[in-house]
Amino acid sequence: MPALVLLGAQWGDEGKGKATDLLGGSVDYVVRYQGGNNAGHTVVVGDQKYALHLLPSGILSPGCTPVIGNGVVVDPSVLLSELSGLNERGVDTSKLLLSGNAHIITPYNVTVDKVTERFLGKRKIGTTGRGIGPTYADKINRVGIRVQDLYDESILTQKVEAALDVKNQILTKLYNRRAIAVDQVVEELLGYADKLAPYVADTVLVLNQALEEDKVVLFEGGQGTLLDIDHGTYPFVTSSNPTAGGACTGAGVGPTKISRVIGILKAYTTRVGAGPFPTELFDEDGEALRRIGGERGVTTGRDRRCGWFDAVIARYATRVNGLTDFFLTKLDVLTGWEQIPVCVAYEIDGRRVEELPYSQTDFHHAKPVYEMLPGWSEDISKAKSFADLPKNAQSYVKALEEMSGAPISAIGVGPGRDETIEINSFL
Ligand code: GDP
Ligand code: IMO
Ligand code: MG
Repeated sequence: MPALVLLGAQWGDEGKGKATDLLGGSVDYVVRYQGGNNAGHTVVVGDQKYALHLLPSGILSPGCTPVIGNGVVVDPSVLLSELSGLNERGVDTSKLLLSGNAHIITPYNVTVDKVTERFLGKRKIGTTGRGIGPTYADKINRVGIRVQDLYDESILTQKVEAALDVKNQILTKLYNRRAIAVDQVVEELLGYADKLAPYVADTVLVLNQALEEDKVVLFEGGQGTLLDIDHGTYPFVTSSNPTAGGACTGAGVGPTKISRVIGILKAYTTRVGAGPFPTELFDEDGEALRRIGGERGVTTGRDRRCGWFDAVIARYATRVNGLTDFFLTKLDVLTGWEQIPVCVAYEIDGRRVEELPYSQTDFHHAKPVYEMLPGWSEDISKAKSFADLPKNAQSYVKALEEMSGAPISAIGVGPGRDETIEINSFL
């Protein structure tokens, strides 16, 4: 039965929160499968705006069970404050399920993230500073702390000792920092145990049983395809797999169960942090996209880098994720341009290249080849069907669809739940 993956097709911030929330009313489970509170997903419901970092956007739909899967890295203090913030606003969060196998972002992981970035200087990644990379590094190095470790003080102490053994050497000798005390970390982590206990579950079992019972499960990606550790613009990426395969490992569900993979695609492009970005604009058009699109990071408050739509990237996202559909967002932001450039290919050292180059050097040299599409000036925010869109907006969508390699099944014309044109049903 339907297991849908919803993920970012670009560099994140495509509007995944809004899209997930929109589907939340019709699905039984919404599952985060990777990333952590580096994500910032905005959901607008009526006059209420929510910024979610760790909780799946389905938390705002009363019928839906939100799940934090094993592939997520969890900062307990962030999770608890996000829960209490929602409770204060009248949102019931009691159905949340948290995988006992999810790894914990410890205070020393956050410290290491920050000092590493400082040490890298101008070569820094521009991380969110939330401890994401170091926590995944500990997981791969087999010195990570998992949610279930909070319930065995002796094991927790041994694991924190093992993790800090090397880290304290690095912190004191390389970065000239103070050593972190094992018992302080253990005490802080144990302090979260009772508060998290009601949510901890065997989420792999729960999700697979739900699928056997024909329940609808939606996997909500954090970040985006080009921030994927394997398929993104390495090393300027996050430390997990937001691409579709990540949903299987990060939730413990087999690939045969996934029926649909929806790529969330912004009608232009944005990026936060360092790294290559061929269509980036440094002129007043870039400024206008930032201003009209409200392109400021939900997590760090940094201005997002803005540029025109890049069809090479969209095609790549279709391929590496096996996308069945696109959800095109923020089409309304492009209203008012007489002509809209769209990048259809790259020029790399005098050659025309149609597909994303695997070589980092080539990608750094890629110059966009633009095709100009006619713009529109009519307000489209009230459009309810494709036919309501001005002809040139329709042509823009059709052109993007053709270049990107998967049908555009929904179009966002504003941040609100109802500011969406549904073309093909996702369920
Ligand atoms: P996410 O990280 O992918 O969930 O995206 P963010 O929430 O970080 O950034 C997307 C921003 O665009 C948010 O402020 C949304 O409210 C807003 N948004 C989403 N879809 C649309 C749309 O179709 N039109 C407009 N104008 N804003 C949108
Ligand atoms: P959502 O889910 C945009 C970027 C950071 C940095 C890189 C690595 O809202 O789309 P990290 O802290 O993950 O180690 O930083 O990844 N990044 C995001 N950019 N949206 C996000 O999430 C991001 N999460 C991480 O800016 O360049
Ligand atoms: Mg975001």
